[in-house]
Amino acid sequence: MEHELVLILDFGGQYNQLIARRVREYGVYCEVKPYSTPLAELRAMNPIGIIFTGGPNSVYLENAPRVEEELFTWGIPILGICYGCQLMAHTLGGQVVPAQEDTAREYGKTLTYYDTNCPLFDGLPAQGISWMSHGDYMAKVPAGFSLVGHTEMCPNAAIADQTRGFYGVQYHPEVNHTEHGLTMLRNFLYKVCHASGDWTMGDYCKSAIAAIREKVGDGKVLLALSGGMDSSVAAALLAEAIGSQLTCVFVDHGLMRLNEGDEVEAAFSKWDLHFVRVNAETRFLLKLAGEQEPERKRKIIGEEFIRVFEEEAKKIGRVDFLAQGTIYPDVIESGAGEAAAIKSHHNVGGLPDFVDFQEIIEPLRMLFKDDVRQLGRELGLPEYLVSRQPFPGPGLAIRIIGDITKEKADTLRLADAIFREEIAKAGEDQNLNQYFAVLTNTRSVGVMGDGRTYDYTLALRAVTTSDFMTADWARIPYDVLDKISVRIVNEVQGINRIVYDITSKPPATIEFE
Ligand code: XMP
Repeated sequence: MEHELVLILDFGGQYNQLIARRVREYGVYCEVKPYSTPLAELRAMNPIGIIFTGGPNSVYLENAPRVEEELFTWGIPILGICYGCQLMAHTLGGQVVPAQEDTAREYGKTLTYYDTNCPLFDGLPAQGISWMSHGDYMAKVPAGFSLVGHTEMCPNAAIADQTRGFYGVQYHPEVNHTEHGLTMLRNFLYKVCHASGDWTMGDYCKSAIAAIREKVGDGKVLLALSGGMDSSVAAALLAEAIGSQLTCVFVDHGLMRLNEGDEVEAAFSKWDLHFVRVNAETRFLLKLAGEQEPERKRKIIGEEFIRVFEEEAKKIGRVDFLAQGTIYPDVIESGAGEAAAIKSHHNVGGLPDFVDFQEIIEPLRMLFKDDVRQLGRELGLPEYLVSRQPFPGPGLAIRIIGDITKEKADTLRLADAIFREEIAKAGEDQNLNQYFAVLTNTRSVGVMGDGRTYDYTLALRAVTTSDFMTADWARIPYDVLDKISVRIVNEVQGINRIVYDITSKPPATIEFE
């Protein structure tokens, strides 16, 4: 089934995924494409509306990202956000200049006044706080545009050419700090683009199953299964689509949490599908030996995963496709879009150049985490699977800072298990989206009994987040932290100090590596 589509043209802004998630939350399918995508490709997607994202550049600079003017002649509504707004103004004959220190340069929360006759602000109060972040200023807006929003400093915080369906805002409606920002996005979708809201998970599920059947035909598929939510949902979807043509391979790289390998095996052995467990601890640890650099660790693991899958495929005989539970944020965070590459997710940027499969299929590649969770429920997966906290593919490899040894992995496994056990006992798991222990590379002096110790520092990390793109550190009660600390230093050899990570994302990330 074809869905109405809104195109999000990516100019490198930090909130682009947020825009995409919001649009989908409003029941409209959207895709993020780099601004440099050929116009013909964009046109062929047949969007009902286009959103230009923000970005770090200045439109008047020589190498600034641009779009060809032709795009504005398609008769498709456009919403430009921040840089996207300035780009629209610049392209259509307006003038954008650097703001003077004391004039229209604005950062942060800004009181903004709106013209509520404009469809973008329909039904909203005439003023509210908006989140500004721009150092440039629109000295002249293009012909045909009127000013529909202003601040104390800036007469053109929002501009509109209602005849052509072009709207531009200098602030970021997609962030929570902008009051009614989400309703503005919704207004753009429903009052400007006249979306019908046809993106539902039930429909997606049906069309994904049909697409998998068509692609795979009578071929065989090997799914890389980690037991986490994404690959479990991918397994359920593929099993529904192609049944016995699917084999799920779970590679235990020896960097799983305590008892996790057995738990995954127990859970999936009960399912009606071909399930293979490969114990590959020794080969992974050998490959990782002495490696300290986080990106190298990820690449080594990504490559070794593929080599194991290739070997398993040979055992099965002919396997045409390798399937993975890659989701959209993995793709974007690995630097596929315009935003900077933060980490190479093992299943995207970590893939080796040569892969001995006809093709890789990733049925969840266009979905956000929340979409996947919803899809899992649609497919009837048990709640404990769809509400599990995420566990990264490289596992404890990116939670052991510095070089990795089996001893360190065993130490971390025990400490992490105690942390999770105590969190669950205290009922705190309900309040947290991800929590785990990290073995740092720091050793320090302690005293135990009457003796001196010189052991590792363990860091505890717990965050609240809805999208895993931004996160806040969790305010776990001190008495719970105290209990965890006392238990770990008493029960786990090699650790004599516990610290609690109190950094948000950004500036930190959720994982340490
Ligand atoms: P960061 O550390 O980038 O993590 O804030 C965001 C979320 O992604 C998970 N993560 C990964 N998941 N393969 C995965 O399957 C990876 O390579 C990977 N790296 C990070 C992380 O646990 C968090 O939920």
